[in-house]
Amino acid sequence: MGVRLVSTGSCLPDKVLSNFDLEKMVDTSDHWITTRTGIRERRISQGETTSDMATEAAFKALSSTSPEEVELIVVATATPDAFFPSTACKVQSKLGNKRAVAFDVSAACTGFIYALYVADSILRSKDIKNALVIGAERFSKIVNWEDRSTCILFGDGAGAVYLEASEDEGILAFDLGADGSYGELLSVPSVGSNEDFPFFVKMKGNEVFKIAVRTMVESAKRVLEKASLKAEDISLLIPHQANLRIINAVAQRLNIPQEKVFVNLDKYGNTSAASIPIALDEALRQGKLKKGDLVLLVAFGGGFTWGSCVIKV
Ligand code: COA
Repeated sequence: MGVRLVSTGSCLPDKVLSNFDLEKMVDTSDHWITTRTGIRERRISQGETTSDMATEAAFKALSSTSPEEVELIVVATATPDAFFPSTACKVQSKLGNKRAVAFDVSAACTGFIYALYVADSILRSKDIKNALVIGAERFSKIVNWEDRSTCILFGDGAGAVYLEASEDEGILAFDLGADGSYGELLSVPSVGSNEDFPFFVKMKGNEVFKIAVRTMVESAKRVLEKASLKAEDISLLIPHQANLRIINAVAQRLNIPQEKVFVNLDKYGNTSAASIPIALDEALRQGKLKKGDLVLLVAFGGGFTWGSCVIKV
């Protein structure tokens, strides 16, 4: 009894915000942003909510499946439309589905891997036969557009995968973890705290950087071991798209050559929980993965949280 990845979809808002646009907003330069991060532009919602983007990605992932048939919807997001109803319930309603179990998962940029783990475990329990797992974010609402150290990094978007319980093993292994003692290095307060509105992303970028590289490498090594695989067995590495220097350092330490590393952060920046499912969807649509290939997903985010997964597509 296994779980297979059936199809994927994604949604990016039309509005492009380039580094040159940012030069007019804060004291920065295209040169600084590209050399330090690899990001050239990002997409910004012009009114699309997180659940709007999640729903569009879901419809695309369900192109050959009726939305009414979906039995489980898990949305990973740090920027939900509301405290409640959950973004997953909003997506369910917009899909016209009335039967799915629906809830959100919060693990910042690692959220999609956490949501995938939850859905995979539920599908293996045999009670539920299929699932939509979505990563969706509207970070443009929680970045301080006057803070050059954070506003250049993030973007909006959503990605979705449709999974089914199957005879074959598609999702091969996970490695997940968290260390809450690092919480203050990357955070956004909310109403339960004693902090005052507005709530913006706060980050100690330099410290996050170092821990991100080390943690992603360790997690990727563990998941390969759990799946009894070597780095050279992997057809494509899809890392969380936060910073090109982080991605390159991780790939180098795993001995995965650049041509096997998927990068799209130049176009979208860091879309947090949406980054891996958007990248997975693009990689499949661009023919970078074919049936039977092994893909390694590796994420890191606020919490700190981390997660890796190996999938046979
Ligand atoms: N434009 C121009 N200068 C900027 C800038 C910007 N947008 N943002 C910061 N700077 C300046 C700083 O003020 C600092 O100036 P100073 O030396 O005069 O004090 C200088 O650039 C270096 O800042 P620093 O923060 O040390 O740069 P860095 O090389 O660490 O790069 C990040 C900053 C944010 C790009 C990098 O730390 C990073 O990507 N960290 C990881 C963040 C991340 O991925 N978070 C999400 C994880 S899921």
